[in-house]
Amino acid sequence: MRDYQLLTNQVKSFLEGEDNLIANLANTCALIKTSFDDWWVGFYLVENDELVLGPFQGPVACTRIKKGKGVCGSAFEKRQSMVVANVHEFEGHIACSAESNSEIVVPVLVDGNVVAILDIDSKEFDQFNEMDQKGLEGICELIALKWS
Ligand code: SME
Repeated sequence: MRDYQLLTNQVKSFLEGEDNLIANLANTCALIKTSFDDWWVGFYLVENDELVLGPFQGPVACTRIKKGKGVCGSAFEKRQSMVVANVHEFEGHIACSAESNSEIVVPVLVDGNVVAILDIDSKEFDQFNEMDQKGLEGICELIALKWS
């Protein structure tokens, strides 16, 4: 069982004491990775209307993703979270790792604009549900409040 209440409180407590964006994103990834042990946890940051790899935990990943491409680029374009039960059935999925089977992507929205996305990949099929979406959207809202 994933304890999002605990995760949220932990994220809140380190965000309170630090304003550096990269430090906060890095610790958020580390916390999610160590809490839930998913295969890959990371942020992509919006730069010139495309996504560029930011702080992450897990194997090496693709560095740039165009708007509308893959799960991440789709979440960026639609400005909404995406839960994909089987990435092999998602048209245009970008396979950074052959080990990934399901994925969740949540945008960080500031004034209605996507400034980053949080991406989590799992080796399990159908790993993520609405509870994960709600929990991670809450985390991304906390990060958005610290955006500068
Ligand atoms: N699978 C993602 C690409 C990023 S990696 O999973 C780290 C996608 O289709 O957008």
